[in-house]
Amino acid sequence: MCGIVGYIGKRRAYDILIQGLHRLEYRGYDSSGVAMISEDGELNIYKAKGKVEALEHFAASKDLSGTIGIAHTRWATHGEPNDINAHPHFSQSGRLAMVHNGTIENYSVLKDALSSHGYNFISQTDTEVAVHLIEYIMQKNNCSLFDAVREATKRIVGAYAIAIVDKQNPDQIIAARQSSPLVIGVGEGEYFLASDATPIIEYTNKVIYLNDGDIAVINRGQELKVFDSNSTSESEIKITELQMSIEQLEKGGYPHFMLKEIFEQPKTLADCISGRISADGKRVTLSGVIEHKEKFLNTNRIIIVACGTSWHAALIGKHLFEEFCRIPVVVEYASEFRYSNPVVNPGDVLIALSQSGETADTLAALELAKANGAFVFGICNVIGSSIPRATHSGCYIHVGPEIGVASTKAFTGQVTVLAMMSLLIGQMKGTVSDEVVANVASDIRRVPALIKDIFKLNDKIEELAKIFTYAHNFLYLGRGYNYPSALEGALKLKEISYIHAEGYPAAEMKHGTIALIDNDMPSVVIAIKDNVYEKTVNNIQQVKARGGKVVAIVTEGDTIVADMADYVLEVPQIAECLTPLLTAIPLQLLAYYIAVNKGRNVDQPRNLAKSVTVE
Ligand code: AGP
Ligand code: GLU
Repeated sequence: MCGIVGYIGKRRAYDILIQGLHRLEYRGYDSSGVAMISEDGELNIYKAKGKVEALEHFAASKDLSGTIGIAHTRWATHGEPNDINAHPHFSQSGRLAMVHNGTIENYSVLKDALSSHGYNFISQTDTEVAVHLIEYIMQKNNCSLFDAVREATKRIVGAYAIAIVDKQNPDQIIAARQSSPLVIGVGEGEYFLASDATPIIEYTNKVIYLNDGDIAVINRGQELKVFDSNSTSESEIKITELQMSIEQLEKGGYPHFMLKEIFEQPKTLADCISGRISADGKRVTLSGVIEHKEKFLNTNRIIIVACGTSWHAALIGKHLFEEFCRIPVVVEYASEFRYSNPVVNPGDVLIALSQSGETADTLAALELAKANGAFVFGICNVIGSSIPRATHSGCYIHVGPEIGVASTKAFTGQVTVLAMMSLLIGQMKGTVSDEVVANVASDIRRVPALIKDIFKLNDKIEELAKIFTYAHNFLYLGRGYNYPSALEGALKLKEISYIHAEGYPAAEMKHGTIALIDNDMPSVVIAIKDNVYEKTVNNIQQVKARGGKVVAIVTEGDTIVADMADYVLEVPQIAECLTPLLTAIPLQLLAYYIAVNKGRNVDQPRNLAKSVTVE
């Protein structure tokens, strides 16, 4: 996601825009930029890579006049974070300037068509394609900016919130939204526009939330008009009076970024999947894999290096690749791998899994493997970070900025990409049938809705957390695909509540750890209906026999475990290989509410950093 700000009124627009970008910087900070129509009618665009202060430094000596402008702080999806790809983007003639939040899935088709009409592109972004398309329509149809935007929205496939200004009409901003948020603030003789209300609230608490398909025509000193892009009629305008604080607004009304990011997962996973599973659900498309098909077809081994939560996702990746691709996989802590004088052969494929793309040990591990002839592939969230720039190829998880130090949406994004990768490679190798690919791909597409279902457990988990807030130790048990889920659940609890927790293979618990079990040592057991369900049920009985309390995560409709566990949390039925995407949700919420009950700094736990760029 990114941050959009717009202003039209009587003040110097630049001051409103810059302050607004600072308020929205949490939404993305790869680069930022402003566009103003100056007092003498020039359309000035200033933009810079990096945080907003880099833009302020760059713009300090420029003409910052003008009472109309738009601005953007970028979370890159198409094109490296740099000055050229930064928004706003000019149209070809320099008449229009536009900012955009979202991803245009059919941008390459549109780009080819515009190129054939003589349009040139200076950036790698999908956004530039859109502003050129709007200008093309204006010129071809000799129509207004509003009509061109409305026509363009019919041709664009994807998610967008856009704001656009026309040098030849300094009294108007046009804004449109589809799947990405846009809010209009109504002031006295002035309008504000932003991705959320945080840049607006200090000027007015009267806001209008645009809906999908809306196109807003914001004319200086006139009544705001909002149209539905699919009709000529005006939409009803509903003004909301905000009461929230700025800090609450940055978190989307949630008390912490972590809770916001837990609840974002249906949306972030839909974004992660978007455009990567064919409409008929039978094929996965990951260009970073397809372009290097031979590497994956010919390798005898995949090595996955990662740290922390990403290492847990890597363990799930091992199951996925071995099940669907029949390729042996070794999963290594990056910090161990890099100093172990590892055996790496040319032909090996090494996958570096990292949300931040900046983890020092993971970066060093991939460099070592690359130096030994391995093909290195990155799976990251932050576009243009160090790991994607050091690998031969890769795939982004596209879950947007993860602000909470404890990883949640990035974990489910990583597992989702690994699942799609294993299906794609398995299908290329012929080690998995088209039917299985279609079934699993169909289930992948169900995940966002199923996670939404699981959120109905929120209040139950919040109550459950109160019971365990004062526990001193926890045991998390799981098998197969959900042994890594147990590890991840334990890490979530440890890192935000500071309660000691240990993830363990459920069967292994009998080889020593069971000695810890008593009434003061609760166990969380993931006992979904998989091929070892009966064995896990035995493990629950073993824990109960020693007086241990059990919180069981089960498949919806389970009655067997319900009769023996102390607390039961149900998740929907789904392909076994995808169950970690569902079992993660109650474990994230349980850890969150226990940590909140203990008064911990959930978003920035003690001793931790979001990205460990040191050894
Ligand atoms: C996750 O909750 C932790 N904050 C931490 O373990 C993290 O997963 C680890 O530092 C790896 O980070 P990366 O994915 O950015 O490489
Ligand atoms: N897809 C656009 C880009 O990569 C916008 C990304 C965003 O929402 O910040 O520039």
